[in-house]
This record gives sequence, C-alpha cells and structure tokens, in this order.
Amino acid sequence: MPITFTPIRNETFVASVDGVDLRKPLDAETLATVIEGSDRYAVLVFHDQPLNNEELVALGAQLGPLDVGLQEKLMKKVQDRYTSAAISDISNVDAASGDVADQAHKQAIMNVGNRFWHSDSSYDRHPYRYSILTATTAASKGGATEYADLRSAYDTLDDDTKALIADRTATFYSHFTRQWLGIEDRPEDLRVFPPVRWPLVRTHPGSGRKLLWCDSKVCEISGMSIPEGRALAHELIEHIGQREHVYSHYWKPNDVVLYDNRSVLHRGRRFDMRERREMRRVATVDDSTALSQARLDVVAPFARDAA
Ligand code: OGA
Ligand code: MN
Repeated sequence: MPITFTPIRNETFVASVDGVDLRKPLDAETLATVIEGSDRYAVLVFHDQPLNNEELVALGAQLGPLDVGLQEKLMKKVQDRYTSAAISDISNVDAASGDVADQAHKQAIMNVGNRFWHSDSSYDRHPYRYSILTATTAASKGGATEYADLRSAYDTLDDDTKALIADRTATFYSHFTRQWLGIEDRPEDLRVFPPVRWPLVRTHPGSGRKLLWCDSKVCEISGMSIPEGRALAHELIEHIGQREHVYSHYWKPNDVVLYDNRSVLHRGRRFDMRERREMRRVATVDDSTALSQARLDVVAPFARDAA
C-alpha cells in the first residue's frame, strides 16, 4: 500500500498519514517521503500504531540523533518508568504506586508546564527538530494537544510588525514559565539551561518558508526594555494562537503525532488530572548547520538566578 497524506486542517497544515507501519524500520524511500510530508504539513498524524518502547525509540532514531529529554537533564529523574532515557514520560502516573499522581507530585506539575504554547527545547542550545508523541491512555474529556502553524503566523503578520521584528532576537529561558507558575526550583536546576538567543524570524530549510519563532519561554527581546519585550512576545504568541493557525488533536490510544518543532508551537489542554492520561515522547536534536548558524551566543544568566 502506498503512503498517502490527507490534509486535515488546511492545504499545507496537518496531514493524516496512511499506508505505513511505524513499528518496522522505514525504507529509505518511505523515510524521505515522511520527511517531505513533514516539510509540507509540519504535523503528521498516524492512527492505530501501537508502538512499544523499543519501536518508539527506533522510529525516532531514524529521523535523527535522539535527545535524552528534560526529565533526565533538569528533573534528575523525577521517576523512571521507561527503559530508555530517550523516552520522555508525558503522563500523570506516579511510578511508585502505578496510580494517577497526586496534584503536588512533580510529574503532575511538569504536565501543567506543557499547557503554555511552546516548541520543545526552544530554550536549549540545540532545540529539537522532530518530536514524536504517542498516547497510551487518553483522557475521556479534554486533554487535546494543540498545534499552531508558525509559517502561517509569520505570513499573516502585518507589515509594521514584520518590520519591527525582522532583525531582532529573542531570549528563551527554560524557567520563565516555571517561575510564572510559582514552581520553586533549586538554584542548581536554574543553571541547567542558561538562556539562549534566537532570531525571531527564521527560514525553514525544508520548506523555505519563514517562521515566527517565539514561544512562552521568551523573556526578553533585543533592543527593547524587558517589559516592552515581554509585552511584544505576549502579543506574538496571541497572534500565533489564533484559531486560524491552530489544529487540536484529540487523542485515541495508539495515535502517533510527528511534529516539526521548527514550524509549529504546541500546548497540552486542560483535563481532569484525577484521570489517567499517558503519553510517551521521543525527540531528535536539530543539528543542522542552518540552525546552528542561526543560533547566537548564549547570554549571561539572569542576575536573579546567578547565585
Ligand atoms: C510534549 C507536550 C503536550 C500534551 O510532550 O512535549 O508538550 O498534550 N505535550 O501532553
Ligand atoms: Mn512539548
């Protein structure tokens, strides 16, 4: 059966993919077709793909070098339910009991941070290229993951805003949202990811399309006061999150969503946290020359954090 892409949001954003078994290694042609499909649609949705942990890791590794994930780097293993450090545990399950985690459990709190619009690892020196997220247990109500198209977001900016941001950089800081949420991290955790700066406008190497590169980790914009920069970042995220740029994925078990973190933001939507919701994620590091050239120097840590 040939691999087919059916657009499900608009002509160039989000496609449902049929005719491929993700449990098996993809042949070179299929892999190239998937990457081309991702360049065009940015978010690929696959149904009925029950992947065990080894298959999930193997799938991700075909798309590039896998990252070990924030839980390993920052949370110092809140808990470890999976055999591979490459699998991020995006669940509200307490590994010790196997039950739904208490609302104060770090695992539950980590999920709350995912409710802000973000690109995975935008705050890291090497952000992610692809993330692959799959659901084992879905929430009965809510708990969708929303994706917002950074290409159409750029295209629909007014000319004044395009000119305003054309040559500016934004500082992304991992703990910006955690501090906003009132999460008190240890001083040593604050130093794991020093802030990084990226241009606010980037070009996707695969599609050639311009991207509005701003997410909820942006705490400063070059050439602006801190308040003005934060207000602009807020405005840009509001623009990105308008419904015309957004696709909401309501999960069924064994759905797999492959998204290009360069081209989309995403966020998890609220659900009843007393209910079990289990997801696993792997992600590849963006090691492309295009991106590393785009990265500017890492800035000094905030005075406030540099204890
Ligand atoms: C993620 C993420 C959102 C969700 O896994 O990177 O942001 O809906 N998840 O769980
Ligand atoms: Mn995420």
